[in-house]
Amino acid sequence: MNVELFSLRCDYELRMKNDFCNKVNSTFVIQHRLWRQFNIRNSSSALPITRNSKFVIQHSKLMSLEEYILAHTDAESDYLHRLWRDTNIRTVHGRMASGHLQGRMLRMFVEMIQPKNVLEIGTFSGYSAISMAEGLPKDGRLWTYEINDEMETFTRNWINGSEVAPKINFIIGDALEEAPKLGITFDMVFIDGDKRTYIDAYEMSMSLLREGGFIIADNTLWDGHVVDASYDNDRQTAGIEAFNDHVCQDDRVHQVMIPVRDGLTIIRKKPNVL
Ligand SMILES: C[S@@+](CC[C@H](N)C(=O)[O-])C[C@H]1O[C@@H](n2cnc3c(N)ncnc32)[C@H](O)[C@@H]1O
Repeated sequence: MNVELFSLRCDYELRMKNDFCNKVNSTFVIQHRLWRQFNIRNSSSALPITRNSKFVIQHSKLMSLEEYILAHTDAESDYLHRLWRDTNIRTVHGRMASGHLQGRMLRMFVEMIQPKNVLEIGTFSGYSAISMAEGLPKDGRLWTYEINDEMETFTRNWINGSEVAPKINFIIGDALEEAPKLGITFDMVFIDGDKRTYIDAYEMSMSLLREGGFIIADNTLWDGHVVDASYDNDRQTAGIEAFNDHVCQDDRVHQVMIPVRDGLTIIRKKPNVL
């Protein structure tokens, strides 16, 4: 067999599609989110590689585990990818946005729970809000609060421009004060606000959550600081640790902590608990 090996640099800007290969401006590129060197084994000696060329991408062993996971997870939409880029270019703490893996996971949780009403504490740029709204049933709604009014224009534009805009109520304000005023019982809450007040956010959420409903709390491993003694005097670490202990000792709930990204704790309010 006439085999040609190509080493291509993959374009960070371009999106991975099912067939990995696409024609862009007469240049054939392998689409992947991260800059990587890939070896492409083409079964035909003819160049260029076409969309229908038989090829095998010998990439798995070159990837980090994180890249491998992303390559085998649903792609985010182009819209979300652009939002993620814009967030990282135009905001100081862009890494706060959920991003690809967590966004797909949140959407999956919503599809599993099928909530009618979802509350989010901490919208930031709207990445997680749009991701969750994508999974909502037709009559599902998301209320999302952002305390920092400097984010309003940026985030409102991105939410309003998304296909799921009709399902999202984006509100500037302190979720802990404002959400109880809605008079809504929630099926699911995503806690992603101030780490120092996670217990308050949790207790407020529990008071608005239906029996059997779910709370998902983000950042519960806090970059590993929860087990790092050098962060003992850090208030955000202390807030997360206190929250984790609080939930663990709470008989009203079941909980499981999963080590995705910065740690997610999935909490279920037991049915028939006051
Ligand atoms: C980690 S970011 C949220 C990221 C977003 N949920 C995502 O995953 O894309 C946390 C945000 O919560 C906001 N925040 C903190 N405390 C809040 C509160 N009590 N009510 C509403 N927003 C709050 C912060 O201003 C910040 O923008």
